[in-house]
Amino acid sequence: MCGIVGYVGPRDALGVVLDGLRRLEYRGYDSAGVAVLSDGALHCSKKAGKLANLEKQLAEEPVPAGTVGIGHTRWATHGGPTDRNAHPHASADGSVAVIHNGIIENFAVLRAECEATGIEFRSETDTEVAAHLLAAAYDQAPAGPGRLAEAMRAVCRRLQGAFTLVASHAAEPDTLVAARRSSPLVVGVGDGEYFLGSDVAAFIAHTREARELGQDQVVEIDRQRGLTVTDFSGAAVEPKAYTVDWDAAAAEKGGYPWFMLKEIAEQPQAIADTLLGRLGAQGELVLDEVRLSDQELRDIDKVFVVACGTAYHAGLIAKYAIEHWTRIPVEVELASEFRYRDPVLDRSTLVVVVSQSGETMDTLMALRHAKDQKARVLAICNANGSTIPRESDAVLYTHAGPEVAVASTKGFLTQLVACYLVGLFLAQVRGIKYEDEVASVVADLRRLPDAVTTVLEQMEPVRELARSLAEADRMLFLGRHVSFPVALEGALKLKELAYIHAEGFAAGELKHGPIAVIDEGTPVVVVVPPRARDLLHGKVVSNIQEVRARGARTVVIAEEGDEDVVPYADHVIRVPRTPTLLAPVVTTVPLQVLACEIADTRGLDVDQPRNLAKSVTVE
Ligand code: F6R
Repeated sequence: MCGIVGYVGPRDALGVVLDGLRRLEYRGYDSAGVAVLSDGALHCSKKAGKLANLEKQLAEEPVPAGTVGIGHTRWATHGGPTDRNAHPHASADGSVAVIHNGIIENFAVLRAECEATGIEFRSETDTEVAAHLLAAAYDQAPAGPGRLAEAMRAVCRRLQGAFTLVASHAAEPDTLVAARRSSPLVVGVGDGEYFLGSDVAAFIAHTREARELGQDQVVEIDRQRGLTVTDFSGAAVEPKAYTVDWDAAAAEKGGYPWFMLKEIAEQPQAIADTLLGRLGAQGELVLDEVRLSDQELRDIDKVFVVACGTAYHAGLIAKYAIEHWTRIPVEVELASEFRYRDPVLDRSTLVVVVSQSGETMDTLMALRHAKDQKARVLAICNANGSTIPRESDAVLYTHAGPEVAVASTKGFLTQLVACYLVGLFLAQVRGIKYEDEVASVVADLRRLPDAVTTVLEQMEPVRELARSLAEADRMLFLGRHVSFPVALEGALKLKELAYIHAEGFAAGELKHGPIAVIDEGTPVVVVVPPRARDLLHGKVVSNIQEVRARGARTVVIAEEGDEDVVPYADHVIRVPRTPTLLAPVVTTVPLQVLACEIADTRGLDVDQPRNLAKSVTVE
C-alpha cells in the first residue's frame, strides 16, 4: 500500500525514481508524485490517477535534473485521490519534501499545533504534518553532518501509528533520510549510489544488495558519508545485509499481456522452488529460520492459522491437512479479527501467520498480539527481509519470486505447499508420522508442479467459457471439504478482477438458504472432490443436481475419468487426479484463469483492479 522510492547517487534521479515507481505501482495507483533536489531547491510534480498521468505532466512541464530524488505512488487513506493530496508534501517554506506510507494516528493534534503557529495546510492528508514538523525540527537541530536525520528522529518520536517516511531537504544536496515504524522500507546499496524502496522491486534493476531496516529505525543515505542507521533515540544500529535472489527480469511481464497471466504460468516452477531443499540428509523437513527448540514444537497443543484474503483461504485449507496429519486442533482466523476477540493463546500455541508480502498490517498486528500472549509464531512468507518473518520465531519462505499482479495466484499455491510442509514438519517433530509416511506425502507434493503444468496446458476451453460468461452479473462457487475454501478463493478472484458479484459456499450449505438466489442461467461453479472419496464425492454430485434442477448453468471442475458428473455438467473442466488434501493446488488454477479471462474480456485492468493495492499496510 503506497509505493516509496528514493535515490541518492550520480545518475539522473528522476529517471531512477520513475523507473522504481513503475515497478511499485501495484502497491497503489490513486496518484503519483516525485520531488527532485536541484541547485538548492526542491522541484515537485504530482498528479492524481495512475503513474502515466504524472509522466505526461512531466513531459509537458519537466523538472530540472538532480541527483537526489524521491517518488511515491499512493493508495489513498487520509484525503481523497486528488492532485493536492498526492505526495510528496512540502513544508510551508518549501525546504522539505516528504513521502509517506501508513497512517499518522495523532495527526489531528499535530495539525492543530502547526496551524496554531500560522501554517496553512494545503492538503487533507495526515502526511503534511510530517513535512511541517520536519522543517521546524531541522531548524532546531545542530548544524553539521546528520542534521536531517536528527530532525527525523525528533519528529518520529512524536508520531503515533504506522509510517514509512522519506524526506529530502533543500539544504542537503547529497542526502536523503527515511524512517520506519510498522511499514515497509528497504535500502538498496549500489556502487556509489543508494536507493530506498517499499520493497526491493524499486531498485532491483540497479542492485541486488539490500539492507533490512528494523522497527523504529532511521536511515540516512549520503553520497559522502554512506549509510547510517540509528534507532529513534540516535543509537547506532547495524542493518542486516542480504542479497536479493531474483533479478529485474523476474519482475517484467516477459511477453505476457498481464503480470497475472505470467504469474499463473510460473506456478509449477514456484511450487518446485518452494519444495526445493526442504528435505534434509535424514529425510527431515527443513525450515528457513527456526528460533524454536524441538521441545517447544513438541509441546504445541493448538495451532492458529492467521491471515487475510487469499492467504486466509490457504489457511482454511491448511486446517484440513494439519489436523489430519498431526491431530492437533487448528483454528483459522482472519487477521483483522484475531486480536479483537481475545483468543486463548499461551506458550503451547503455535500461530502460523501466512502473508505473501510479509507486510500486511492486519497480519502483523495479529502476530504481535500472539507474541504478547507468549504464543510461538511461525511465518509463511514470500518476501525476504519483510517485517512479518523478521518478527516471527520461525520462518518458511515460499519461493514464488516477485508477485506483481495485485490478485495473488502463485503466492496462494506456494502458501498451500508451505502449509502442507508445516503440517508434515509438526507431525514429524511430534513423532506422529513415520519418516516414510512423511516421505510419501512429500513425493505427492513433488508431483504437483507437473499436475499444475497439465492443468495449464488444458486452459483453452476455460478461456472460451470465460468469454461466454463475461456478461454474467453474479456467480456462485461451491465445494465441500478442502474444495470449500477453493470455492471461496474462486469467488474472491472473480469479484476483485471482474467486479462480478460472486460468493463461495460449502456445497451442503446451499439448501439452507442461498439456493434461493439461483434461477435460470445462474452460473454455478462446482469443485468436485476426487472420485476416490466416495461419500464426499457422491454428496457433491447430488449438490450439482440440486442446483441444475433450479436452472443453474453448471461449470464442474472434476478429475480425469470422473464420469459421474457428466450428466449434470453444462461444462466440465478436467484436472489431473491428485490426493484429496493436495487437490486445491490443481483445482484452484482453472478458477484463476477463469477470473482473469472474464476480466480481460470485460476490458478491465487485470493487474491493477480498482480500489485495491497489493500490499495492505494499514489496518
Ligand atoms: C487477493 C489478494 C489478497 C491478499 C491479502 C493478504 O487476490 O491478493 O486478498 O491475499 O491482502 O496479502 P498478504 O498475503 O500479502 O498478507
